[in-house]
Amino acid sequence: MIRIAPSLLSADFARLADELATVEHADLLHLDVMDGHFVPNLTIGPALIKALRKHTKLPFDCHLMIAEPQRYIGAFLDAGADLISIHIETEPHLQRALQMIRDGGAKAGIAINPATSAESLTSALDFCDYILVMTVNPGFGGQKFIEPVVPKIRHIARLVRERGLRVEIEVDGGIDAGTAPRVVDAGASILVAGSAVFGKPDRDAAMRAIRDAVTTTRV
Ligand code: DX5
Ligand code: ZN
Repeated sequence: MIRIAPSLLSADFARLADELATVEHADLLHLDVMDGHFVPNLTIGPALIKALRKHTKLPFDCHLMIAEPQRYIGAFLDAGADLISIHIETEPHLQRALQMIRDGGAKAGIAINPATSAESLTSALDFCDYILVMTVNPGFGGQKFIEPVVPKIRHIARLVRERGLRVEIEVDGGIDAGTAPRVVDAGASILVAGSAVFGKPDRDAAMRAIRDAVTTTRV
């Protein structure tokens, strides 16, 4: 099953509750947390996520692009996160951090930057529920999809299959109706889309275009 996760980063921040109502037919809501340190941008934190929680039933998929993520896992669990991903580039005690997320009742994800190798995941795959493969360098919406990441998605999907694990692959960055079929063919099943959904006036039509593309396009 393919799931669509609109990224709130491309929504109108002055009207967030109204914006949430326009994506109620999505599968997840992707929330980008940036600290101005791991990535060169600042966005939202647990207080805003907690405030949004009562405005939608969608599961909250929190993507932490922050240094020392372990320090803040508790705050995001309290805020109502259903999935939490932390970057492998930021966390020296990865298994421990992933276990904290799971112990808090959320799904644990490992996010990896475009230049980070699939092999770096080897010893951590058993401790996570999903891998968030960045298809742009994190920090901003609306960037161009990095095509050479596609073979890496395929590689990670093979590692997961070979080990008989139930680890999903989420992709994030430059995903639209054009790029979605290629990442799905490579093994991704959760598609984050910021500008391709919130950048369009009709959000249902925008999500439908991505879903249709992955079911009808031959790669
Ligand atoms: C970028 C964020 C993404 C971003 C994607 O660092 O992690 O979630 O919102 O935006 P698009 O889909 O426009 O590339
Ligand atoms: Zn993201």
